[in-house]
Amino acid sequence: MCGIIGVLGKQDVVPSLVDGLKRLEYRGYDSAGIATLTSDGIDRRRAEGKLVNLEAVLDGNNLSGLAGIGHTRWATHGVPNETNAHPHMTTQIALVHNGIIENYRELAEELVAKGYAFESETDTEIAAQLISSYLDDGASPKDAMAQSLQRLQGAFSIAVIFKKHDDLMIGARRGAPLAVGWGKGEMFLGSDALALAPLTSSISYLEEDDWVVLTRDGAVFYDKNNQEVTREVKQTQLSGAMIGKGNHRHFMMKEIVEQPAVIGETLSSFFNPRSRTITLPDLPFDWKDLPKITIVACGTSFYAAMIAKYWFEKVADLSVEVDIASEFRYRNMPLREGGLAMFISQSGETADTLAALKYAKENGQHIGSIINVEESSMGRESDFVFHTQAGPEIGVASTKAFTCQLVTLACIAIDAGVQRGVIDHEEEARLCAAISEVPARAAEILESHVNIKNLAEKIFEANDILYIGRGTGYPVALEGALKLKELSYIHAEGYAAGELKHGPIALIDDTVPVIVVAPSDPYFEKTASNMQEVMARKARVIFLSDAAGIEQLGEHAVGSIELPSVDPFVAPILYALPVQLLAYYVAVLKGTDVDQPRNLAKSVTVE
Ligand code: F6R
Repeated sequence: MCGIIGVLGKQDVVPSLVDGLKRLEYRGYDSAGIATLTSDGIDRRRAEGKLVNLEAVLDGNNLSGLAGIGHTRWATHGVPNETNAHPHMTTQIALVHNGIIENYRELAEELVAKGYAFESETDTEIAAQLISSYLDDGASPKDAMAQSLQRLQGAFSIAVIFKKHDDLMIGARRGAPLAVGWGKGEMFLGSDALALAPLTSSISYLEEDDWVVLTRDGAVFYDKNNQEVTREVKQTQLSGAMIGKGNHRHFMMKEIVEQPAVIGETLSSFFNPRSRTITLPDLPFDWKDLPKITIVACGTSFYAAMIAKYWFEKVADLSVEVDIASEFRYRNMPLREGGLAMFISQSGETADTLAALKYAKENGQHIGSIINVEESSMGRESDFVFHTQAGPEIGVASTKAFTCQLVTLACIAIDAGVQRGVIDHEEEARLCAAISEVPARAAEILESHVNIKNLAEKIFEANDILYIGRGTGYPVALEGALKLKELSYIHAEGYAAGELKHGPIALIDDTVPVIVVAPSDPYFEKTASNMQEVMARKARVIFLSDAAGIEQLGEHAVGSIELPSVDPFVAPILYALPVQLLAYYVAVLKGTDVDQPRNLAKSVTVE
């Protein structure tokens, strides 16, 4: 949510800032801007909308400098227009910000009383004027920053350049990520290592409440008590090459088709296909001692948690509390000391999930995270980490990260089952055999997906679409509905099929397509009855099942998607693919922005 980049360079920094913003655009695309230090002050260019609009402004509209900051915005306070775009400037500084300054009203009143005025509706400009006010009172940039950080409340990361200080940039982190990149005679700041990848592979991460003073010679880190601290310099493996779409029209399709490979890659971290066993890293607890576990996440990652609940309960006889992070963090949930809490996140930066993790940590839980970005805040706060090997996910709607989370959770559940003595090695081998088939079966689905494109044509003009399923098919239905609504802006809801007659069935008529997720599993007959019930009310059903299911019921549906016959244990991983593809093709038919849907951002670092 909002991307920040800063460069103290040896040559004109504008090209590097623009390149960095391209890599950060997945964090927000409501507006973008750049400010540079010039011989007479600070100069900036900003544009509403996507980065291409800023590039158009920069084209032929000279902006240059040896030091500068850039920003791509996901709007929180103030509409997405040019005035509210970052960087925000005062007579003394320019500042970019990711996050929310919670006490902005109180600070604004104080600043107005001192004669300061604001031109935007943003909380960010108030932070900029606050720093400026300390400078006006005679403080040095470093002291102005230290004093301001004591005053600012909320979760944010910021980067600041100071007029007439051409070898200085100051950054700060509280609840939103910030990384320092080390160059030779150059230094960099960025929201993530991906943004800095072409500039350097040497990265230090600010810890919570750190702030950092950069000059071209290096960086000095301070903690919240303004004590100088050391932060490790790590080498990142991220490629400096811009991540491309290959031959695909959208990142989302590229990421969908990568799934067989990245699922295989993720499995190879802890799965031995020869012995058909799972070996997890050493964990700081004994599965046998756990009466229950807690799994917390947001959005698509939360649906992965819901599926995992079914798995843990079935194969490990372990009850699982799943919760949406934004609820969990404020519920004051009682947690028994020594329990296990797991957090699932593609980005590893989602503000609510991170806050929930901290709550669980403070309440004596062992903390495990399943994340796709290893050097993320959640990774650093966890006792143990399962790193999904999905690779960078650029499409805002999560696809490959979700299925990699699922295979990881399936392996953890099997291991827990073995350790708790609930399943024997024969059952472990059987489940492992089913999992080992997933990459190949996923590839089969992708090879034969033309049918899904045709089915999209049958539903893309609908105003409302329902998805139903039972067992692990229920979270798949929720995920299908989420994918469809976020990409195509069609209203869609996922329901447990058994819940329909408790209300939602009132929505059904011949204009409402119903997507039925029904692998041949122990719930099949029940789901089939619910499908009959909606068809009796003229719903147009699209039926997702295997050959046996389609033979039984396919003729009644307006369309069917035939999926491979697999062990029901792994069905939700594979059934995720057709719901992703259906949402993708509907969005393409509707002409929406598939990779950057309106109002969304990839890394949700505000609550
Ligand atoms: C939907 C989607 C979101 C994310 C959610 C959590 O397609 O991508 O719902 O799953 O914002 O993000 P992470 O997994 O990064 O914590």
